[in-house]
Amino acid sequence: MNWFYRIYDWVLGLFDRSPATSPEPEYVWRPAAAEPAPVAIPEGAYPRFMASAGDQTALPDAFAAIRAKLRQAYTPAQPVTDRKMFSGRSRVLGSVIQAIEDQRLHTVIYGERGLGKTSTLHVLAQTARDARYLVLYHTCSASSNFDDVFRAVCAGIPLMFHADHGPTSQQTERGDNFASILGTEPVTTRVVGELFGKVVGTRILVILDEFDRAENEEYRRNIAELIKSLSDRAARVQLLIGGVAANLSELIANVPSIQRNIFALQLPKMPPSEIRDLVKNGESISGLTFDDDAVETITAKSLGFPFLATLLSQRSALTAIDSGRVEVTAQDVEEAVGEVIEEFRGRVSRRSVSRIEACAAEGALPALGALAGAAQTVGGWFSPFDLAPIHGDPATLSKAKANLDNLLANSGLLETRGEGADRTYHFAEESVPPYLWLVAGHAHADASFAHRIAGAEA
Ligand SMILES: Nc1ncnc2c1ncn2[C@@H]1O[C@H](COP(=O)(O)OP(=O)(O)O)[C@@H](O)[C@H]1O
Ligand SMILES: [Mg+2]
Repeated sequence: MNWFYRIYDWVLGLFDRSPATSPEPEYVWRPAAAEPAPVAIPEGAYPRFMASAGDQTALPDAFAAIRAKLRQAYTPAQPVTDRKMFSGRSRVLGSVIQAIEDQRLHTVIYGERGLGKTSTLHVLAQTARDARYLVLYHTCSASSNFDDVFRAVCAGIPLMFHADHGPTSQQTERGDNFASILGTEPVTTRVVGELFGKVVGTRILVILDEFDRAENEEYRRNIAELIKSLSDRAARVQLLIGGVAANLSELIANVPSIQRNIFALQLPKMPPSEIRDLVKNGESISGLTFDDDAVETITAKSLGFPFLATLLSQRSALTAIDSGRVEVTAQDVEEAVGEVIEEFRGRVSRRSVSRIEACAAEGALPALGALAGAAQTVGGWFSPFDLAPIHGDPATLSKAKANLDNLLANSGLLETRGEGADRTYHFAEESVPPYLWLVAGHAHADASFAHRIAGAEA
């Protein structure tokens, strides 16, 4: 039993105590989509895509169908938009629904990339639509501004929901929407607040995802003002905002008066039981099975990030299929980790890659890996206290703690702030912790890889 599993068993014990006590809320699940019919496409001599973009089975061999379904079962490059593929998160969904429905609050869901914010927002959108909310989904960009975003939102609201127009008015019958009655002047929070105050006959949920991307501070301040205005009017429009932010004041420019109108939820990491469900959930869709060791390896390496779990599940399953098997083993996961490392390396600067290799040559990789695990777990700035058994064995952890300032000075990868007990550290490059975490774990599991990484500098 290697250190990963020993520690992992221990961590499992920590999580397994909590969930059984309170009942999970229930949701309506949609039936599965019908299976696509197979079509034959002649094989060519050149390299080709393995699956048909038409979601149809293209290859005659027995694994082609599994491969096609696998791409639906695990979608590391896309958020989950179908509840059938969405695992866990019952508590999160339950508390957001309660905040929206019972308390009529505006809601902010924040957390690091890859934690499942967009997927959660999509599932909430579906659930709200089922309850006859009118849901308008907007993904913010660097250039988002209030006028563009709210004109687009207004264009999605039929005029029949306006108190002064109603279902039988001429404009409503013409198919007009809320944007039709906006003037040509740039829309302000006052205009939108007043307009939304006139909504009748439905409740509206405006979802603004990737809110942190919006660079325009005025836009962020306008959203805060709109929340205040909508709350003051008890309007039938609520905002649901998603984004990356260490705390709320980063997400919504500081308007203290709106704090009581907002339900802010930091999306937690997924506990091991939910990551296991995520892996297992794909089995029924793809027709593959993951043996227990494979599931535990994926769970241990994912650190509660559904992004890593879904990526490793997909890649390890493809590795198994390539070997002509439908049972995925821990060995397939290790091979998949090797592939993912190659991919992640492309997102890390050459400077950092060679610094990591230099540290590996000096035997500092396990300690750095433990720090990367801590950084991943807390989402950025970490202290020695954040180094937990999930990030390494006791010897590695104490080495990492004792050498933190050495690593800071010599690795060229870390930065620090604060003094004494308040001193915290982070990796200067955002893409380094996930890469380093996988590299350190893989070096532990695969001697030839360890040799390669450590020898690269020699
Ligand atoms: N609850 C979940 N069940 C299954 N897969 C999930 C879940 N949450 C996220 N994922 C997967 O994890 C990846 C990252 O999710 P995403 O919603 O895009 O995260 P974020 O918006 O926080 O960056 C996606 O590939 C998605 O398919
Ligand atoms: Mg997202």
